[in-house]
Amino acid sequence: MAALLCFVVLLLSPLLSHAADPDPLLDFCVADLNSSPSFANFPCKPTSNVTSEDFFFNGFMTEGNTSNVFGSRVTPGNVLTFPALNMLGISMNRVDLAPNGINPPHSHPRATESGVVLKGKVLVGFVTTGNVYYSKELVPGQMFVIPRGLVHFQKNVGRSKALLVTSFNSQNPGAVILTNTLFGTKPSIPDHVLTQNFQVDASVVHGIESKFRS
Ligand code: GLV
Ligand code: MN
Repeated sequence: MAALLCFVVLLLSPLLSHAADPDPLLDFCVADLNSSPSFANFPCKPTSNVTSEDFFFNGFMTEGNTSNVFGSRVTPGNVLTFPALNMLGISMNRVDLAPNGINPPHSHPRATESGVVLKGKVLVGFVTTGNVYYSKELVPGQMFVIPRGLVHFQKNVGRSKALLVTSFNSQNPGAVILTNTLFGTKPSIPDHVLTQNFQVDASVVHGIESKFRS
């Protein structure tokens, strides 16, 4: 019986390890962002129009503007900002955190995240589907991982600015930011749903909504 089980697991293992975007079928397929995507991939820019510049991205060279209520800025290096990532199944972000700044609780429906702290002292935390909270304060050079789909955050707990670079096994990981998802939608989620869910009065819901509706 145990041998049969091992055999079945071995047979399935290529399927079990298929955890990222699909494998590429070409060397590259620099996205033509002017065309509409078919499923997750964009059509390729004609190879005759592709140059070296397509394969390099300057978007992480400048510090993100953290003058906002969260004191943070995520600069994405995904297929939409760096079209050479099309079809390659990876992307990265630059995350700047002012002192006390937070990259608020969010999840990525399509990717596992890993990251490394480059500057400052950062509290990184995530919560499992069983509501277990894991966290650690990281200093430059330390790396972390957030399993796919789990809610997580990063908060600057040092005195100076903090900088992280994160990476994903998807060209377009997506981000579900909990506050915006519940309190910043258009149209808004009905009051009776939110008041019942959070067991508070409508005035509390409206107070929170006023901060997240743009
Ligand atoms: C950090 O959590 C990020 O999504 O870049
Ligand atoms: Mn994230």
